[in-house]
Amino acid sequence: MMRKATFFSILLIPAAASFIFFSQDKNLQESMKRGKEVYALHCQNCHMENGQGMEGVNPPVAKTTYLKDTKKNIGIILNGQTGEVVVNGKKYNAIMNPMNYLDDKEIADVLNYIRNSWGNKYPIVTPAQVKAEREKPAKTN
Ligand code: HEC
Repeated sequence: MMRKATFFSILLIPAAASFIFFSQDKNLQESMKRGKEVYALHCQNCHMENGQGMEGVNPPVAKTTYLKDTKKNIGIILNGQTGEVVVNGKKYNAIMNPMNYLDDKEIADVLNYIRNSWGNKYPIVTPAQVKAEREKPAKTN
């Protein structure tokens, strides 16, 4: 009896774990697919199709350490960004307008796309995380 239970848990735990892993991966793949369209419509003009940006004007979103901070990423889309930033060792000082007209899902999707394309690899962002940031009182920096 005991042995049988152990036998099944040896088989089933890894099966369940890999199921969770694969379904998360599938969520990410699907979100990225939608995010690619959001990117093409709302971001690509400035950050370019390959995420390289335009030197001296718009910073790259490919392989930038900026993407490490999920909350900050969400904040940049919701609140825009101005002032000098150094991205991958180069200075930029221009204006990215707030894009809070994108809904929570669109923002999560576009972030999943840029955070997992062009060599980037960061954890999945959910619409709930975007909602939480949106509902925070505006920052003044
Ligand atoms: C009008 C051009 C423009 C558009 C459109 C735009 N951005 Fe930006 N983005 C910028 C600029 C300029 C900066 C840097 C602002 C500064 O100088 O502080 C920036 C900064 C960023 C950063 C932080 C720095 C970095 O390079 O990692 C991220 C992430 C980002 N943008 C993502 C996006 C996403 C996603 C979209 C689409 C939803 C988008 N941007 C749309 C111009 C743009």
